[in-house]
Amino acid sequence: MYTQAEALFSHESINVSALKSKAYNFRWAEVEEGVIPMTAADPDFPVASEIVQSIQQYIQDGYFSYTPHTGFPRFKQAMANYVNERKNEGIDPELVLPIDSAARGMYIIAQTVLNSGDEVIVFDPVDYLFRESSLAAKGKVVLFPAVVTNDDRIDLSSLESYVTEKTRMICLCNPHNPLGLVYTKEDLAHILAIANKYDLWIMNDEIWSDIVYPEKPFISILSLGKELNRKTLSVFGFSKSYGIASLRSGALYATEPVIFQELVKNSGVLTTAGGITAISQVAAIACLEQCSYWLEAFLKHLQSNRDHAVERLGKMPYVTVRKPQATYLLFINISKTGLSSETFATRLRTEGRLALVPGTARFFGPGSEGYVRMCFATSRTLLDEGLDRLEAFLKSLQ
Ligand SMILES: Cc1ncc(COP(=O)(O)O)c(C=O)c1O
Repeated sequence: MYTQAEALFSHESINVSALKSKAYNFRWAEVEEGVIPMTAADPDFPVASEIVQSIQQYIQDGYFSYTPHTGFPRFKQAMANYVNERKNEGIDPELVLPIDSAARGMYIIAQTVLNSGDEVIVFDPVDYLFRESSLAAKGKVVLFPAVVTNDDRIDLSSLESYVTEKTRMICLCNPHNPLGLVYTKEDLAHILAIANKYDLWIMNDEIWSDIVYPEKPFISILSLGKELNRKTLSVFGFSKSYGIASLRSGALYATEPVIFQELVKNSGVLTTAGGITAISQVAAIACLEQCSYWLEAFLKHLQSNRDHAVERLGKMPYVTVRKPQATYLLFINISKTGLSSETFATRLRTEGRLALVPGTARFFGPGSEGYVRMCFATSRTLLDEGLDRLEAFLKSLQ
C-alpha cells in the first residue's frame, strides 16, 4: 500500500494515453509507439489537484476579461514571498513581472540589456536557451567551458579571462541544467565580483531552484545582498517544479526599479502584445501558495529515483555518471562507447526503444559531446524499464 504522498508519484498515477496526446517537445506525443521518452525535463505525473481546482474555479463564471498589464498583484506577492521565505532572496513584489514562461523571461532580459555585437558569457554545456536568447538579441555568444572539479563544482578559476571590453552579460544557470550542480556561496561571490568589477549584467535563471536534494543547499545569488546584485536579472518558472509547462507561466524580477521598467517595456505587456494569460497566473499562484506538500513529496520520490538510477548506472558497461545535487536530470558520460552522442541517442532510440537527449551543440553546447541526458521524473517502474533498455543496449555494444 502507498501512503497518500507516495500515491501521487506511483506508477498507477501516470496516464500514458493522456501523455501521448499532450506531451510534446521530444516526449510521449512525438516518439514512435513503444519508445519510452526520458527526454525533455517535464514530469510524467499529473499536477497537484489544487492547480486543477484553481483553474476550474477561475473559469466557472465564464469571464475572460483583460488582466492587469503587469500581472495579478497576488502573483507578484506570492512570488516574492516564495523566494524570500525559502531562498532568502529579498525580492520586492513590485519588481516582479509575471510572464509567459521562463524562456520568454530570458529573451526579454537579453533584449533589454544587449546591443548588437555585445558579448555574452554562456557556460558550455548549459541549456540552449541562454545561447538562443542572446543570439536573438544580436549578442555574440562566448562559450566558457564548464569543467566539473573533483569536488563537484564548476571550475570558475579562468572565468575572468573570458571577459573582454565587449562583454556585457554573464549567464548563470543555478542550479545547472544539465550538470545538476548548485553553486556554492564562494562561487557566486566570485561571479558577482567579476560582474561588478567589469559592470556586467547577470542573467540569473533559477528555474531549477526547487529541485534540490538535501546534501547541498541551493543558494541564490540574490541572497548575497542587494548592493552586489544591482545588475542581476532573475528568472523563475513553474514547468520543472510543478509540471505546468504548457501553461507557459514564469516570472522575471529585478532589484532596481529603473531596469525593471525597461524589462516591463520590452515584455510587450503594456501594449497587451505580450503577457501571460489569466489561467496561467492562477495556476502559478496555486503552485506558490498551495502546493508545497506536493513538491516535498515529489522531491522525496525524485531523490529515491536518483539514488536508484545512479546505483544501477554504476554497474553498467561503458557509462559513468555523477550524482546530481539538483534537477531530475542525469548527465551520462557515454564517451567510452566510441559513439558520438547523436549516434548513440539515435541507435538507443531505434534499437533500444529509449529516447534520451543527445549531448550536442544544439541542445547544450559543443562541450556536451560524449554525454546523453536522461530525465528521471517518472515512476520507478518506467525508470527501471528505461534503465533496463539502456543496459541491454550497452551490452549489445560489447
Ligand atoms: C535552465 C532552464 N531555463 C529555462 C527553461 C524553460 O522553462 P519554461 O518552460 O518556463 O520556458 C528550462 C527548461 O528546461 C531550463 O532547463
